[in-house]
Amino acid sequence: MPFALITGTSSGLGRGAAERLTAVGWDVVGTVLAAGQGDGLDFETVVADVTDDVDVARLGALVHERGERLDALVNNAGVAMSGPWEEITATELRRQLGVNLVGAMAVTGACLPALRAAKGVVVNISSVSGQAGDPLMGPYNASKFGLEGASEALRQEVRPFGVRVVLIEPGPFRTPISGASPQAAARGSDGPYAEHWKVIDQWLAWHAESSADPQQCIDAIVGAVTRADAPFRIPVGDGIADVVRKHAASLIRQADAADAWLRTL
Ligand SMILES: NC(=O)c1ccc[n+]([C@@H]2O[C@H](COP(=O)([O-])OP(=O)(O)OC[C@H]3O[C@@H](n4cnc5c(N)ncnc54)[C@H](OP(=O)(O)O)[C@@H]3O)[C@@H](O)[C@H]2O)c1
Repeated sequence: MPFALITGTSSGLGRGAAERLTAVGWDVVGTVLAAGQGDGLDFETVVADVTDDVDVARLGALVHERGERLDALVNNAGVAMSGPWEEITATELRRQLGVNLVGAMAVTGACLPALRAAKGVVVNISSVSGQAGDPLMGPYNASKFGLEGASEALRQEVRPFGVRVVLIEPGPFRTPISGASPQAAARGSDGPYAEHWKVIDQWLAWHAESSADPQQCIDAIVGAVTRADAPFRIPVGDGIADVVRKHAASLIRQADAADAWLRTL
């Protein structure tokens, strides 16, 4: 039976992917942050905070003890902190990067011997926010852009061992993340970023109530795990591939403008 480790399976995309993989015959271990969050789930859970070095080492040991072969690691655990550069504290930023970027890289590092042994796959849950920045999304953009760059490096490092790497880039899908994630504590209701905050607040309310059913994204995650022909980057969601195409076109225009400008020096 193939074996998968998925981080952040108490809710949302991680839980959906763990349930689907279990249903199609995978042995799945999912992580939760607190004992009891795994009660009633149809897959095995372990308590692990991906920002905790001891917990990460425990995940590596768990994989080792179960036969030292891991067919799939899904780095899904994440939070989405909003806040302008001017107001976000370094502590808040470290927390955001610690979960979404350092946590994913550390868990992957701990699992790589078993992933190499199984010629497995690492599926990193990035975001369309890993491709294009938005006002007040800087902390989240930083975490997901970081995950994208690190995944490009990882892909080349592990290709010789037959390990695949896939980036899932979801647009907005209705999960608890919009309500569960922290916002910059110093947010001002009438400060210089008040208009941006209004937009973010409206967007968060829309995300929680009216964004897309997560099933399409869960399908993409499961496909990335089970199908060897999955592309490296998978933008998923209504219009999301077009957001990526537009951003890629703007990068080319920026490079052209830079070339022209450099010739004037
Ligand atoms: N939903 C979207 O619109 C969307 C769009 C783009 C990307 N994504 C990405 O998709 C992934 C899953 O998010 P989701 O939307 O399914 O939200 P979610 O339901 O809130 O799931 C996030 C999961 O991560 C866990 N988690 C948070 N901090 C953790 C930590 N330090 N260590 C271990 N686990 C931790 C949460 O546990 P608790 O519930 O106990 O806090 C939860 O199980 C995230 O990486 C997110 O950035 C989501």
